[in-house]
Amino acid sequence: MARIIAGVTSSHVPAIGAAIDLGKTEEPYWKRVFSGFEKSKEWMAKAKPDVVIEVYNDHASAFSVEMIPTFALGCAAEFPPADEGWGPRPVPVVKGHPKLAAHIAQSVILDEFDLTIVNKMEVDHGLTVPLNLMFGSPKEWPCPVIPLAVNVVVFPPPTAHRCFMLGRAIRKAVESYPEDLRVVVMGTGGMSHQISGPRAGLINSKFDKAYLDAIANDPLKLTRISHVEFMREAGAEGIEMVMWLIMRGALDDKVKEVYRFYTVPASNTAVGHIILENIPRAAAKVKRPPVGKKTVAGRSSKPKRAAAHRVKHDTVRTKR
Ligand SMILES: [Fe+2]
Repeated sequence: MARIIAGVTSSHVPAIGAAIDLGKTEEPYWKRVFSGFEKSKEWMAKAKPDVVIEVYNDHASAFSVEMIPTFALGCAAEFPPADEGWGPRPVPVVKGHPKLAAHIAQSVILDEFDLTIVNKMEVDHGLTVPLNLMFGSPKEWPCPVIPLAVNVVVFPPPTAHRCFMLGRAIRKAVESYPEDLRVVVMGTGGMSHQISGPRAGLINSKFDKAYLDAIANDPLKLTRISHVEFMREAGAEGIEMVMWLIMRGALDDKVKEVYRFYTVPASNTAVGHIILENIPRAAAKVKRPPVGKKTVAGRSSKPKRAAAHRVKHDTVRTKR
């Protein structure tokens, strides 16, 4: 059975990609940013996932205003880097995992999340910059990556709550895939930033740090943040942070925070990053009666527990 072992969030600032491509990572301004990801690369090298599911947004590279899918899952065998105006980034072609992606599409759509299936797509900095931050700059990316593009560019983006619930559905899909794969889910974008208008340059570190706290320990609280609140507190482009909730919904309720990094600024954006691990179930020390043993109520424990688990994750509802 496939399982999700951890979740990672990271900003995907395009200037970070330019700094890598132009050899500026050792310059003092950029070293401050990149040094925050040294431990992350070590963690990823040890985690060695078989597959990464990466939630990101396209920046008018693969999609334009002519076609705006809310959720688009990359099911192709490969995804070349997009030309974002300066030629494609000099990064490896992203290899997909068509079988797992097709399985996720089927499971999630039958769970009533209407994904767009994408069989041909180029990927921009939104996807490739976080790969660099977590894997460095190898000749080939070390594992397949399934892109999940989310519309956070044209109103209306999906709600925070919808994103969290999609994460739940993705976890269910992964856990029903028969092959024994270790999966890491990455949620990218943010943190606070606004790139145009009278509030251009806005950074709200207080909001960002509270968001990092809650993404680890109280994600349901974040599902109640409205679009207007995101824009008011984190700037117009701060809405990208809804994508972190797809990652978080795919993890267990309680997780282990293994690393966090926050710095301001990179270009005009606050950079936030966190690594959360699912606690291995054997180590979770859950007190429960042996399978099949009669409970106090006289019923077998196994079906009741399984049913409770499914209801919990299929019907979480929060105040909005
Ligand atoms: Fe972005």
